[in-house]
Amino acid sequence: MKKILLENFNTSLSALKQKNENPFHKKVLKYIRNPLKIFPRIMWEFKKHSKEIDWSERSEIMGNSSVFGNQISTSEQEKITNIHEKILSKFLDNNLNSGSKILDFGCGYGRFSDFFVKKFDCDYTGVEDNEYFIKNFKNKENKKFISFEILKKNTELDNYFDLLFVFAVFGGFKKKKALDIIQLLEKKIKPKGKILIVEAISEKEVEDEWSFRTEKYYTNLFKNFNVSTEYYFLEDKKFNQIFYGTKI
Ligand SMILES: C[S@@+](CC[C@H](N)C(=O)[O-])C[C@H]1O[C@@H](n2cnc3c(N)ncnc32)[C@H](O)[C@@H]1O
Repeated sequence: MKKILLENFNTSLSALKQKNENPFHKKVLKYIRNPLKIFPRIMWEFKKHSKEIDWSERSEIMGNSSVFGNQISTSEQEKITNIHEKILSKFLDNNLNSGSKILDFGCGYGRFSDFFVKKFDCDYTGVEDNEYFIKNFKNKENKKFISFEILKKNTELDNYFDLLFVFAVFGGFKKKKALDIIQLLEKKIKPKGKILIVEAISEKEVEDEWSFRTEKYYTNLFKNFNVSTEYYFLEDKKFNQIFYGTKI
């Protein structure tokens, strides 16, 4: 039986989307008025299934806001992060010890790093492969940021982490890459280590620059973890599934 953690919360993106949602006839009119505009659109439609998001380009343009769905203010980013942290606490309160080793894969600008360090006193490692974020990271005690290359190569980090945390990262990978990455991440988690992964899902797969995949796809991807899919929350009407479990 599924349990909802938050009925729906609207970020400023909801308002933005409503503003941008042109009715169908307006979209068609645009091409009738200016037929040449249809060619780049057709190219985009062809390419969109094979393309992955270009994170460096996106972050150069949008800065920290690039980890969210659209350009939003710093205060909106904080508001959303606070709501996310409240949701995550449900799984982490009573399950993390002081000094627990956390791997935050695809940590972006590290918006959850203070949460893990200050609230739970964890030993936090954020991992990124985007130069923009890597350049801006500041390592502090109990708070490390490393590149994806280092995570891959450093065998001292094998069987090292107590918890793998991933928030909205797998949706950005094509299937083969998602599989390669989870296989690598599995190696980094201690036996009986835990995962807490949040991904937006849908009933039918939508392959795009950002893909919405089914719950079944993800439970299969995380098959070496005993995951529960009991909890989810709605954000801007999007279904965010929480995958929580232990390495088998
Ligand atoms: C939607 S953002 C989410 C960021 C963060 N988890 C958050 O919730 O703020 C996805 C992030 O995954 C990062 N990413 C993509 N491929 C990666 C890889 N191979 N290794 C590490 N990070 C990666 C991107 O650079 C981007 O910052």
